[in-house]
Amino acid sequence: MNAKQLAAEQAVEHINDGMIVGLGTGSTAYWAIRSLAEKVSEGLRIRAVASSIQSEDLAKQLGIPLIPFSELEEIDMTIDGADEVDADLNLIKGGGGALLREKILAANSKRLIIIVDESKRVERLGAFPLPVEIVPFAANLTIRRLERLQGKPQIRLANGEPFITDNGNWIADCSFGPIADPAQLHLQLNMIPGVVDNGLFVQMAHQVVVGYNDGTVKIIN
Ligand code: A5P
Repeated sequence: MNAKQLAAEQAVEHINDGMIVGLGTGSTAYWAIRSLAEKVSEGLRIRAVASSIQSEDLAKQLGIPLIPFSELEEIDMTIDGADEVDADLNLIKGGGGALLREKILAANSKRLIIIVDESKRVERLGAFPLPVEIVPFAANLTIRRLERLQGKPQIRLANGEPFITDNGNWIADCSFGPIADPAQLHLQLNMIPGVVDNGLFVQMAHQVVVGYNDGTVKIIN
């Protein structure tokens, strides 16, 4: 079993009958969705909401009952990956482009469990470019504001064209270098008109489950 799968399977153990479960996105969340589907096929009764079309398709294909965002009042537990995790459990997310839905799920979940392999742990956030979701029609103006914040924004591309998020927006990947104050940067970014949200998840995770290549798992609360 690889390190991502180890972390995912450990986290899924926390899911009980009757829960509404938020499904993350990415190669680690993939293993959580697989493991959850197995439990559903064995009789676990839950309903899930997906943070991306990709995870929704996977969950549907594996027989996990889904509810749409529009019918949600609260989520019991969300299990999701991350691109970076610091010692205070602050995160950078959005490497897969799903940060907006992921953050909405995180903010409305009683419990957010983050699953990562050991490569994601960092002293300070910022080596991974910070994804910022922006509205396309004002992209030039918004990019100038991100440049003024020293973010060196790069519009994410897919096949030579701007990558389009599930919400119809673009992603500006920003390189701020080591982020001294994630909470402050989060506020500065989200105050820019044209920014929909950014990939900093500050003090949102309740627990991080880290899978190691030697087969061990560590839980950080
Ligand atoms: C998706 O937009 C991201 O937030 C993912 O959670 C993050 O990129 C981690 O993905 P992996 O598990 O594939 O590394």
